[in-house]
Amino acid sequence: MPHQTLAVQGTIVHFVADPFQLPETSCVEVFDPGILFIENGYVNSAGPAEKMKKLLPEGIKIIDYQDKIILPGFVDTHLHYPQTDIIGSFGKQLLDWLETYTFPKEGQFSDTEYATEVVNFFFNEILKNGTTTAQVMPTIHKQSAEIFFQKALQLNMRMISGKVMMDRNAPDFLQDTPEQAYEDSLDLIKNWHERGRISYAVTPRFAVTSTEEQLEKASDLLNKADGLYLHTHLAENAAEVQFVAELFPWSKNYLDVYDKYNLITDHSVFAHSIHLPEESYLSLSENSAAVSFCPTSNLFIGSGLFNLEKAKSHKIKTGLGTDIGGGTSFSMLRTLGEAYKILQLQGQTLSPLKAFYLATLGGAEALSLDEDIGSFHPGKEADFVVLNLDATSLIQRRMASSETIEQKLFLLMTLGDDRSIEATHIMGERRYFRS
Ligand code: GUN
Ligand code: ZN
Repeated sequence: MPHQTLAVQGTIVHFVADPFQLPETSCVEVFDPGILFIENGYVNSAGPAEKMKKLLPEGIKIIDYQDKIILPGFVDTHLHYPQTDIIGSFGKQLLDWLETYTFPKEGQFSDTEYATEVVNFFFNEILKNGTTTAQVMPTIHKQSAEIFFQKALQLNMRMISGKVMMDRNAPDFLQDTPEQAYEDSLDLIKNWHERGRISYAVTPRFAVTSTEEQLEKASDLLNKADGLYLHTHLAENAAEVQFVAELFPWSKNYLDVYDKYNLITDHSVFAHSIHLPEESYLSLSENSAAVSFCPTSNLFIGSGLFNLEKAKSHKIKTGLGTDIGGGTSFSMLRTLGEAYKILQLQGQTLSPLKAFYLATLGGAEALSLDEDIGSFHPGKEADFVVLNLDATSLIQRRMASSETIEQKLFLLMTLGDDRSIEATHIMGERRYFRS
């Protein structure tokens, strides 16, 4: 475990409250120039540079990032590492896309060597994009989760994952049974949950691919330890919603299926959550469950427009997800840019402060990790990203005529991508540097 003690200087930006609930400028702290002081991998303090310099221990290492923006690391609340190699697959909507591209690719993860190679690429890619925490779906193969956890542990990164459970409506090579899924998941929970910075998510893929027997097993698994997550998909696509209604004829709506098996908890994260009746918003809110808004995926697979205003008006915890490989970019900046456009199409908007809140503290809250990460509050784990303002000549040119931090952040989410990431630090330690 690294125990980094250092200070970093730059334009420090972080959120102290939810700008969807309070006047947005009261929710953000900006120190320009500021210093973030990290002690043994944890945030000691952050503040204006002149004031902080007087408090720093003598001889401490200082990295001066000059006028670059230092933000808490990005939180990606939903993606699939095994789908790295199917990003940008042409011409299908959800159910056909799964059958044509996703399931055959996921079948390859019985091959440990291939899975290891993809996991290594995946972690490099998220670090390169400033993402320091993610909730990740592997495949049904137990070792696809083990390989992922091993790498997360080695990198000391805060990650949530769990073996995917699916026992119907998929090719034979991609099905387990309720019993096998239960045993494998339980074993993984015992070995990995709350080891290092890892948490386990019980992961029935979605109602379409689990029998009621398997959903019952998922429910049993959730009681096996404190702090277990439930990670699944919900109401992404109209044909999927229709299929779920046919598979569970007794259900009032899609979410009701998960409700019957007590899967709606304050540690549940429902990816997409687009096509929902009013009562589902109420249920998510009452149960303090979270949803993951996946803009590039929703556009690319043509699933629909997520209603952020409605989710936030119900005070539903909402994070952002890249949903690789339905999604088309590992970049949280690209994800924010597309989120803005999805809201524009609905007569809504996404201010830069709300956007960067969603990508940091909002994501941490959605994953119930806001006591550990998501801001520079003293005592939190010092995961952060450093953003440059001159990645391309166009960005450089536009930045020259932007003055406020809001304008700069908005340009980053509109024009930025992995080239805008200068560095990524995990518990203080620099793990990526754009050289
Ligand atoms: N619903 C069930 N499985 C998946 C998946 O792999 N990707 C997306 N986008 N939706 C799903
Ligand atoms: Zn997904």
